[in-house]
Amino acid sequence: MKLGQYELEVPVFLAPLAGVTDKAFRETVRAVGGNYVWTEMISDKALNYQNSRTLNMLDLTGEAEPRIVQLFGSDPETMARAALLAVECKANIIDINMGCPAPKIVKNDEGSALLKDLPRAKSIASAVVQAVNVPVTVKMRLGWSDDTIVAIELAKLLESVGVQMLTVHGRTREQFYSGYADWDWIRRVKQAVRIPVVGNGDVAKPEDAGRMIEQTGCDGVMIGRGALGNPWLIPRTQHYLRYGTVMSEPSIDERFLVAMQHFERVLRYKGERIGLNEMRKHAVWYIKGVRNAAQLRDEIMQTRSPDEMRAVFSRILRIGE
Ligand SMILES: Cc1cc2nc3c(=O)[nH]c(=O)nc-3n(C[C@H](O)[C@H](O)[C@H](O)COP(=O)(O)O)c2cc1C
Repeated sequence: MKLGQYELEVPVFLAPLAGVTDKAFRETVRAVGGNYVWTEMISDKALNYQNSRTLNMLDLTGEAEPRIVQLFGSDPETMARAALLAVECKANIIDINMGCPAPKIVKNDEGSALLKDLPRAKSIASAVVQAVNVPVTVKMRLGWSDDTIVAIELAKLLESVGVQMLTVHGRTREQFYSGYADWDWIRRVKQAVRIPVVGNGDVAKPEDAGRMIEQTGCDGVMIGRGALGNPWLIPRTQHYLRYGTVMSEPSIDERFLVAMQHFERVLRYKGERIGLNEMRKHAVWYIKGVRNAAQLRDEIMQTRSPDEMRAVFSRILRIGE
């Protein structure tokens, strides 16, 4: 798949995940062999106010191309200015969020609220495309609700203003994360536009991605929840799509060595207090399927210093499988 100057081979993308795909996690996914990672969604307004926490989210130093930044907002001009700022901070691709279902986002006419206001969605995309000299992409849901599916109409509008790739999460806003993603809509969108379409929703193992491509004809797949505590899912899926064989899962040792490296990155970028707090959530995901996971979970939640967290990881390494 070609996106601007980038030739993306067998594209398997790590989804934008607020509170998860920060710099430390993106580097961890890249360290285990995933190439295509997305930032968390970043507020256009906060960027324009130069909010320091938000500017930190745009720290892309040392990250390989393509650096994909996702923005959310509701005003075309503010979005265009935010996109310019992101490009100044070394973004290579700007993605626009048209899918976030969270009430605090929707009430500001952002995220999936744009599915109810296609003229606004189109103006935002057009303003961003005009403002920057890098590819602009959009990640969307199917519509607000089952009886207001707008995926095809929106996809065509976005293509007409110069959006270069679409990611389609096969759910409506009203579904949030419940039920199953409807892959058939991904197929219909793919057939309706000429730009590349990435399928998203419910890819939990490499073979799911194969089925999704077969059923929808999509040009790439995006994985969100399946990668929580499991960064290997991205390269393993890429391997499956390339060679048709499933790579074995990482051993417990490999898992926790990578988790430890992830933790050191979190500490480096977020400091001890916030870093420890954030790592608890990742650590609980990493221990999924490990023996005594329930007890380990309690220990993780009770860690009070980085050394205590390191000790839990080291102990898992000694225990082995
Ligand atoms: C914790 C969490 C945070 C998310 N944050 C974002 C986000 O910032 N931007 C976005 O476009 N989608 C976000 N999503 C949606 C995912 O990117 C993805 O579309 C959705 O989880 C479906 O894919 P999956 O079935 O592979 O998880 C988030 C989902 C979760 C679970």
